[in-house]
Amino acid sequence: MTANLEEVRTVLAQIRAQVSKVIIGQTDVIDKALICIFTNNHALIEGVPGVAKTLLVRALARALGVEYSRIQFTPDLMPTDITGTNVFDMQRSEFTLVKGPVFTTFLLADEINRAPAKTQSALLQAMQERRVTIDRDTHELSRNFTVFATQNPIEYEGTYPLPEAQKDRFMLKIDMDCPNEEDELTLARRTLGNDAPEHVLDLGGVEPVLDEARLASVREAFNSITVRDELLSYMVQIVRTTRTNDSVLVGAGPRATQAMLLAARVHAAIADRDFVTPDDAKAIAVPVLGHRVILRPEYEIEGLSVGDVITRILQDVAVPR
Ligand SMILES: Nc1ncnc2c1ncn2[C@@H]1O[C@H](COP(=O)(O)OP(=O)(O)OP(=O)(O)O)[C@@H](O)[C@H]1O
Ligand SMILES: [Mg+2]
Repeated sequence: MTANLEEVRTVLAQIRAQVSKVIIGQTDVIDKALICIFTNNHALIEGVPGVAKTLLVRALARALGVEYSRIQFTPDLMPTDITGTNVFDMQRSEFTLVKGPVFTTFLLADEINRAPAKTQSALLQAMQERRVTIDRDTHELSRNFTVFATQNPIEYEGTYPLPEAQKDRFMLKIDMDCPNEEDELTLARRTLGNDAPEHVLDLGGVEPVLDEARLASVREAFNSITVRDELLSYMVQIVRTTRTNDSVLVGAGPRATQAMLLAARVHAAIADRDFVTPDDAKAIAVPVLGHRVILRPEYEIEGLSVGDVITRILQDVAVPR
């Protein structure tokens, strides 16, 4: 491995170790969050209440040494509650900018589908451009600005589902399930002791491995992970097959192709390799494609899920040797 990749490897191991001080288990979720962070993309996290979504994002911000803030989306949230507004300062008799919560690095957008489209799109625009316009003035956001938006998978009443075009802006959809029995037992024991997860984080138990500047430089080191041309074609083929599959109404667009390639590279690094294999592509296929593919209603009624369809596509597309 080159010096660059040696650094990537050390940093990944250190971050995982720090986050695991507070997040019990959920290693797959942590890895997917790292994929988004190291490709400079945003994540949609789906999980029922209490599975440690908030704790995860706070712990990641601490381990990466970046700022964190949170917005609770509600039906009456206004776009300016996200971006900020110019307020007239009586003493100085001029307008001054009161920055909104997007002026941070890791932003937890809790229950993004509880706010109407106009408010959602203010955030989505900030995600896409990493800058916001307030009263005609443009303000740059952190170059590491990363949104972790949460959605409750079972509560749809009174919500505003994200439009398909907006979902495409999230690199991965991360499903966060309840802990397994062993992990829940560990959580139960720690809750009664003096190392309850939140307590450990509040007391500064997670140490920063990186900072804003180093995060950006480590990210570049992932470029030296190789993707053979056959694998590149393999991933392009997987995405293209979502557009021709009989049970699919709308397939994944070219952003999905880019997402697969970049995600596969970080996935390879996490698996301690400096080259991508078909297994990397398979592992990230559902998280990358699942939220971008829409099934034909008649197939959905039959009980087919997007996950099933992607699994079938993976079986159909020839795997390069
Ligand atoms: N895997 C886990 N590791 C550590 N703590 C956990 C885990 N799962 C649940 N918890 C604990 O559950 C509690 C809830 O965590 P948290 O507030 O982060 O959940 P959440 O998913 O953000 O919930 P909500 O959807 O209600 O905002 C915390 O006390 C947290 O320590
Ligand atoms: Mg929460």
